[in-house]
Amino acid sequence: MNNNQIEQFKKLKTDVTRFMMMYQFALNELETKIEIVKEEFQFLHDYNPIEHTKSRVKSLESIMNKIGRKGIVLSLEEIKHHIKDIAGLRITCSFISDIYKISDMLQNQFELKINEIKDYIQHPKPNGYRSLHLLVEVPVVMSDGKENVCVEIQIRTIAMDFWASLEHKIFYKYNQTVPSRLIQELKEASDSANKLDKQMERLHREISVIKETQNEDFSEQLTKLLINNQSFKLPSSVLELGSSKE
Ligand code: GTP
Ligand code: MG
Repeated sequence: MNNNQIEQFKKLKTDVTRFMMMYQFALNELETKIEIVKEEFQFLHDYNPIEHTKSRVKSLESIMNKIGRKGIVLSLEEIKHHIKDIAGLRITCSFISDIYKISDMLQNQFELKINEIKDYIQHPKPNGYRSLHLLVEVPVVMSDGKENVCVEIQIRTIAMDFWASLEHKIFYKYNQTVPSRLIQELKEASDSANKLDKQMERLHREISVIKETQNEDFSEQLTKLLINNQSFKLPSSVLELGSSKE
């Protein structure tokens, strides 16, 4: 290798490292936002809708395979433009309604630019795959400027996640040619998972109504106080104590 080639190689290494870092930073930004969604949800609705989150930056090897499959020109610009799932974030939540609440919060509260929404819950794939996919743009500020980085967010319930991970394993085990009996069984399993999701959603709603009624009963026993234009609710018994003359 001559000096020129060594310099070119060094530059390529720096560019690729920066490219991959950019996706990692976008995921870090998003994970911070998700933490905020989680805490706010806990505060407002008294429960945490997010069971867990998992993020990953696609390996260079997988990126190279996809370039080959899709016939993409080998340049970082082209890769950024055509491969939208280099950064991936998966959010698993308890109930179907949470999926849409989280998606709304990400879109409205954080003003993330949404490039594409694929709703595989309203329109499941023929094999039974269900999830909500968002392709979002996350602005990342680096020392040499700002970049809008694309992240694929998959939001699904625990049951959808359970199904997808099993289907993924079977798909790879049979080297992508799954026997038709298994395809049929997977489709049935997906329908069962969906039935369970719907039943859990109904139970969740019932419990929410009971909780709300209990809160209303309790709030009737509270007296509103106005201090510095801010309203507070305090149990009447506390106020009675404060006014007692001794
Ligand atoms: P690529 O397949 O990534 O080129 O993009 P696409 O435009 O086909 O996107 P799609 O929304 O179909 O899939 C993106 C990702 O969703 C995949 O990489 C998987 O993580 C997940 N996914 C989509 N379909 C299935 C499926 O049938 N089974 C499982 N287990 N995962 C799926
Ligand atoms: Mg696909």
